[in-house]
Amino acid sequence: MKKTDNQALVIFGASGDLTERKLIPAVFNLFCGGFLPESYAVIGVSRSSFTDAAYRDKVVFNNEHLKSKPGATEENLKRFAKMVYYQAVDTKNTETYVQLKNRLEALDQEITTKSNYIFYLATPPSLYQTIANGLAENGLNNNENGWSRLIVEKPFGYDLASAKALNKGLLNSFSEEQIYRIDHYLGKETVQNMFVTRFANSIFEPLWNRNYIHRIEITAAEHVGVEKRGGYYDSSGALRDMIQNHLFQLVALVAMEPPVRPDAESIRNEKLKVFQSLRAYSDQDIKENVIRGQYLNSTVRGESISGYREEEGVNDQSKTETYVAMKFFIDNWRWADVPFYIRTGKSMPTRVTEVVIHFKPNHHHLFAHDSSLSNQQNVLVIRIQPNEGILLKFDMKIPGAGFNTEQVNMDFKYDELSNVYVPDAYERLILDCMQGDATLYARGDSTEAAWEFIDPILKAWEKDDSIPVYGYPAGTWGPENADNLIEGENMNWRYPCSNLTDDGNYCEL
Ligand code: NDP
Ligand code: BG6
Repeated sequence: MKKTDNQALVIFGASGDLTERKLIPAVFNLFCGGFLPESYAVIGVSRSSFTDAAYRDKVVFNNEHLKSKPGATEENLKRFAKMVYYQAVDTKNTETYVQLKNRLEALDQEITTKSNYIFYLATPPSLYQTIANGLAENGLNNNENGWSRLIVEKPFGYDLASAKALNKGLLNSFSEEQIYRIDHYLGKETVQNMFVTRFANSIFEPLWNRNYIHRIEITAAEHVGVEKRGGYYDSSGALRDMIQNHLFQLVALVAMEPPVRPDAESIRNEKLKVFQSLRAYSDQDIKENVIRGQYLNSTVRGESISGYREEEGVNDQSKTETYVAMKFFIDNWRWADVPFYIRTGKSMPTRVTEVVIHFKPNHHHLFAHDSSLSNQQNVLVIRIQPNEGILLKFDMKIPGAGFNTEQVNMDFKYDELSNVYVPDAYERLILDCMQGDATLYARGDSTEAAWEFIDPILKAWEKDDSIPVYGYPAGTWGPENADNLIEGENMNWRYPCSNLTDDGNYCEL
């Protein structure tokens, strides 16, 4: 196991939703798993006024998201709470950084954090730059006495220009090696396993190219709507919220070349090349290859579901997309002319994220007695969530006379691995940062390259009102027009179920 220095985690945005729902539970899991160093502290920072005791009550003792954790015994909660502190800071007021610095120095004396700090930015994004500057002005960015790292939450920019400005601004105060841009999809065990599936097995990689792969399909569907985040979501939309970051990270892992070594720079170099090879869209391509939709009210299993425009915090004339499906190409040696189809949406029939590799059919259909079977393709499904696993579809002989074939499933499911603890995404990513490993964090140049591809779509939608936002009833698979993206006879999206191997006629949603 890598060594973890004594250190402190300073969370800006300490009274917010993300801290309570994800960050504190992730650190608590690390505590229960014995991953924290001997001396460790969490210092919550926001404008609200809390004593240490009141803050411990809020994020530890009364935190609903902590109570369900397996290690949440009274004894563990009490021991963990002792590591949690609070300091009120208005990040816009430069004087309060001095108070924070004094507090960190005092804690350093008290519990020996050795001046090693992670500053986690979980505030509104408009404050990221201000906070980085404030820390630098007070010498909290330097690596001289201990080390200093900055975790930056999504969204990283709102478009290409703002992402570039943010990168440039942060680099005035912190070096690239100190900046950890988080994308929680990279913390998911199944996402990391895509890398292993490809590069640890000799049976897949030789086929992983334009000669054998017909198309690649990625779906990230959510059953929930925008819930209580309508205010944020209405100025974001699915393209910014899911595609530019999470889905593009999946695309990069599927499409990248083998890295020279399994280290941060080698892997991130290869991912960057994928984004740089995306074939840029023309205005006409955007109209034809990018479909946006918004969910409408409907009744699902007898329950009435609100349409997006009726959600709290959403403009009742909103044109924000809650669904995006797109087709694009990666112009390089490996992927020339192989279409990539990706889609994401809220209020879909079920929650499922998966990568589907459709292999080309045989060149000669030896057993194609029935023309409807002649197009059968081998399919590899890499299920990210739920019912995590891998499914391979291939043809078998139907017992009896002749050579009639049928497609069958071979699958592996993660839950078959007993006694293996699967860490939560935030838990894994925070631990990596504690140990100085940036492999699963996005690099600045890569983030900009992804924005470079997305930006023209945002601009086209802004300026061209004639590009439709299709309505789809909540609880369905999105606008029917998305089906037209996939070319070819009998070719369509896979309509997955929550259970990996249930597909075809009956499926439990
Ligand atoms: P919240 O609105 O719940 O929390 C915002 C936090 O920022 C509060 O603690 C607020 O505390 C603090 N804050 C606001 N202004 C200041 C200021 N001037 N000085 C100091 N602190 C300030 O947001 P979320 O927790 O939902 O999101 C935080 C970030 O994480 C956002 O960038 C979001 O995009 C990102 N994120 C959130 C996810 C989620 O599921 N919630 C998922 C992925 C990313 P106070 O008012 O006390 O100052
Ligand atoms: C977040 C988005 O980054 O990812 C949310 O802001 C989305 O809108 C969430 O619901 C999906 O994450 P997961 O891990 O539930 O697939």
